[in-house]
Amino acid sequence: HHIHYLKEVNSSNEVGKRLADQGCADGLVVVAEEQTSGKGRLSRGWFSPMGYGVWCSVILRPPFMPSEASKCTLLAAVAVIKAINKYKGVNAKIKWPNDVLLEGKKMVGILTEMSAEFGKINYIVIGTGINTNVPRSIIPDELKELAISVADVATEPIERVQILADYLKNIEDLYETVLRDGFGPVLDEWRKYSDTIGQAVKVIAPDKTYFGTAVDIDEEGLLVVRKEDGTMEKVIAGDVSIRP
Ligand code: BTN
Repeated sequence: HHIHYLKEVNSSNEVGKRLADQGCADGLVVVAEEQTSGKGRLSRGWFSPMGYGVWCSVILRPPFMPSEASKCTLLAAVAVIKAINKYKGVNAKIKWPNDVLLEGKKMVGILTEMSAEFGKINYIVIGTGINTNVPRSIIPDELKELAISVADVATEPIERVQILADYLKNIEDLYETVLRDGFGPVLDEWRKYSDTIGQAVKVIAPDKTYFGTAVDIDEEGLLVVRKEDGTMEKVIAGDVSIRP
């Protein structure tokens, strides 16, 4: 496997996209010690200080339709949660589609970017930021209530490099499972770790906002919501918050 290890990047996703545009192989990994302009979802940033997290991007060239791209995000969420929940005291949950939370704070963020052409996926970049051991003291004030590290809750020593190695191994295993047996097994695992299914939710979609209950996730990774009027709606994109 190809792993590009870099000391400093603007964003590992940006480096990944460039390498993918240049034709790099399926499975290439970009890892950085520090990101100077880490990217989050919805045009937010991602705090990525030197040596305190896993900031990495995996390039996949899956034989899926572009509409199935979100499968890769769910797959990555399962892969990462298995790597961090291995530690005693860590019991993170997945919030659809791709947040990994503990005590309502973000431990892991995933930003998936796709390039598709003629109805086929050219590549997918799965960017993952794992807050492994970010010292509370260096977290910017506005993020203090939003972010949490694996080391903040683990009751045994954690190892950043081990988390990266386990994450990559899990991605590989799950990806092979999907190619061999389809997406069912990964969905089952995702449901096991989900904190969203069964919850009252508020959905902020690109075109409307509504309330309902998250009832399931479909084969394509879309969230199925029963709206307050009883009709079903599938969420493709947007922000879903769990209502208190
Ligand atoms: C989110 O908003 O929750 C997604 C955050 C994704 C952060 C990771 S860190 C590695 C990769 N490179 C980036 O610039 N962003 C992703």
